[in-house]
Amino acid sequence: VHEAAAVSTGSLPSAEVVDDALSAAYARFRDDASGRVADYIPALAEADPSLFGLSVADVHGSVRQAGDASHPFSIQSISKAFVFALVDQALGRESVRRRVGVNNTGLPFNSILAIELNHGSPMNPMVNAGALATTSLVPGADAADRWDFVQQGLSRFAGRELKLDMRVYTSEAGSNQRNESIARLLDSYERLGWDPIQTTDVYTKQCSLSVTTRDLAIMGSTLAAGGVNPLTGDQVVDASVCRDTLAALATSGLYERSGDWLYEIGMPGKSGVSGGILTIAPGKGGLAAFSPGLDPAGNSIRGQRATHYLSGALGLNLF
Ligand code: DON
Repeated sequence: VHEAAAVSTGSLPSAEVVDDALSAAYARFRDDASGRVADYIPALAEADPSLFGLSVADVHGSVRQAGDASHPFSIQSISKAFVFALVDQALGRESVRRRVGVNNTGLPFNSILAIELNHGSPMNPMVNAGALATTSLVPGADAADRWDFVQQGLSRFAGRELKLDMRVYTSEAGSNQRNESIARLLDSYERLGWDPIQTTDVYTKQCSLSVTTRDLAIMGSTLAAGGVNPLTGDQVVDASVCRDTLAALATSGLYERSGDWLYEIGMPGKSGVSGGILTIAPGKGGLAAFSPGLDPAGNSIRGQRATHYLSGALGLNLF
């Protein structure tokens, strides 16, 4: 049951102001080579660290961008926000909250210790344990149905059909012992709604969907707009589901750095190890950054810096 939720109002500055801010952010951080490319997934280790793209999409469908905004990369953990929204929509907020949780672990995204310290709870949908638990709740009769639900759902958020990056999927599927272990551990605590190995496979596929910063910005603006995709007019999820999702992102979207993120940027966001960061300005739009160099928590350094700059320049901090 989803209660009615009013959507935050206000708007982004004009397209000219957004363009100027994007150009300034791009110029300011273009030569910033900080961070290390993820190497625990072999295909990601080959990423070009000089790539740097920025996109801003408002809730009316206007998209502005700078740099490598059309360069495709795998969505990775940013998928967690959208699969959570789809499952929250399908199962209801209290059921998902009870089974997955909405509190930060204070530990890295792939921590096994966090599960043990919390008596088997996956804690929140944005770390791997919680994302695996969420994906295990995806409705469907079999693996093909469940994958279809995820792929079609994320595509509706993006307003175009998102495709699997087979190179990334094969690479991650072949080095997936840790996620399979997390899923088996959760299963031992009766925290999964489906088979642990099949759940991990659908989760790995969702992480391997190919997107650009333009796609992510539109996906974010759909959450910002109470679930209505600004390009297609499709109501993908209810407004109350967007609120649940943004609350979970605020507590846990940047893992153990979520507090620092909220303090600096003042908006819910979600990072992925391929170098993407999506930030949502409720009622206004989505802001996506891509740059593969990461900090030790797995968050793009240049993406964080550019988002910080844009949050300030565009007046987006919620506080
Ligand atoms: O499961 C994994 O480890 C990756 N598919 C996703 C992790 C991720 O993106 C964490 N992000 N910062």
